[in-house]
Amino acid sequence: MYKILISDKLGQAGLDRLDEMDDMAYEMITGLSKSELIAAIPEYDALIIRSGTKPDADIIAAGEKLKVIGRAGIGVDNVDIEAATQNDVLVMNTPRANSVATAEQTMALMLAVNRNTTPAHNSLAAGEWDRATYVGSELDGKTLGIIGFGYIGRLVAHRAAAFGMNIIAADPYVSEASAAESGAQLLPLSELLARADIISLHSVVTPETLNMIDEGAIEQMKDGVVIVNVARGKLIDEQALADAISSGKVGAAALDVYQQEPPEGSPLIGLPNVLHTPHLGASSREAQRRVAVEMVEQVADALRGIEYRNVINPPA
Ligand code: MLT
Repeated sequence: MYKILISDKLGQAGLDRLDEMDDMAYEMITGLSKSELIAAIPEYDALIIRSGTKPDADIIAAGEKLKVIGRAGIGVDNVDIEAATQNDVLVMNTPRANSVATAEQTMALMLAVNRNTTPAHNSLAAGEWDRATYVGSELDGKTLGIIGFGYIGRLVAHRAAAFGMNIIAADPYVSEASAAESGAQLLPLSELLARADIISLHSVVTPETLNMIDEGAIEQMKDGVVIVNVARGKLIDEQALADAISSGKVGAAALDVYQQEPPEGSPLIGLPNVLHTPHLGASSREAQRRVAVEMVEQVADALRGIEYRNVINPPA
């Protein structure tokens, strides 16, 4: 019998799937501190997490029987991949299962921030009837700059094209031809920054992309540009963005992710012209069901030695 610790809340469909497996036992214990996790981990063969648990070198080293860390979702920036590789622990994610949810959240925020939906809602809820203050902008005819043109970036491109937007993209790992297949013109980043009316981030965090939207990048943008981030907060220097919103250089921002989550002390929270949601990109019922089922099946197959899908650190 293999033992799996699920240390962040996983969709019920995944737990139901595990219940059907005779060779897998699991416990879902959320909210463990680092020391509690270190104490608990030695008896488990696999750890399933979302973004809340942060398996670092100490936790991974304590996992005497640990063979797999399954990240139910896309981003593995909360896992110490190097430590996992050194300890022969496979790290796997579910790279596609919540992509549509994230692309739809991007469109929702892009529309809402351009049409002042939140302040208009708040005004009406406060008993006002103010139709003049909340005149917005259309997406139609605007140029959308997508930074990071992977699977989610392309889903956003397809949806934005249906709204009549012109799509440009920057991604050093993508060819012009492949971007064109998804309806985007591939450009160097500096050109994208200069041409986009709306910029949407879809990159992973690497040493190259960390704080990529900083003062220097913002200077290159059009005045009044709108920035949407449903990827990772660490892509944006929050103080630089807050200053640019206050000065009017950046017209508005719609943010689902933050340097620190929850974003205590972030200079962006509560600023006018900033719409924020609490990391809800993947939070659709459909995505959570897919993520949970795919992850438990991947982990079970890996523990049984049948198949290793979506492994981030193949050398392990
Ligand atoms: C992801 O990386 O899959 C999303 O950000 C959602 C999450 O963190 O659970």
